[in-house]
Amino acid sequence: MGPKFDLEEFLIIKEVLMTTPLGDILEDYERLVQLTILKTVYPVPENNTILRLLQYLQFNITFGRFCWNGDCKNCAFRYRGPDGRERTALGCQTVVRSGMKIVKLPAGITPGDPDSSDRT
Ligand code: FES
Repeated sequence: MGPKFDLEEFLIIKEVLMTTPLGDILEDYERLVQLTILKTVYPVPENNTILRLLQYLQFNITFGRFCWNGDCKNCAFRYRGPDGRERTALGCQTVVRSGMKIVKLPAGITPGDPDSSDRT
């Protein structure tokens, strides 16, 4: 017999997720840094991982693809650093640095609709 499904608990968790402002998913930060994603520059909170920032920016994320803890490697992305060299890194493990330019997003993540953003 599998785990018991608790409808009341499910509804409480759903309510929390639906009412949590996106700002609550972020690590503490004091300033914004510039992150370029596919030629668009975004001011984003420092001290946060790339995967978390893509969520914050409301990119379309196929959440089931990502473990968020460094195991699956599905969050690999390509970026160019200040020295101009291209590198591959894991979005869930890599903290944003000012001037970072993402040139290829992980599979399963696409830019969101910029007109529907509501980042509270
Ligand atoms: S999300 Fe699985 S390794 Fe990053």
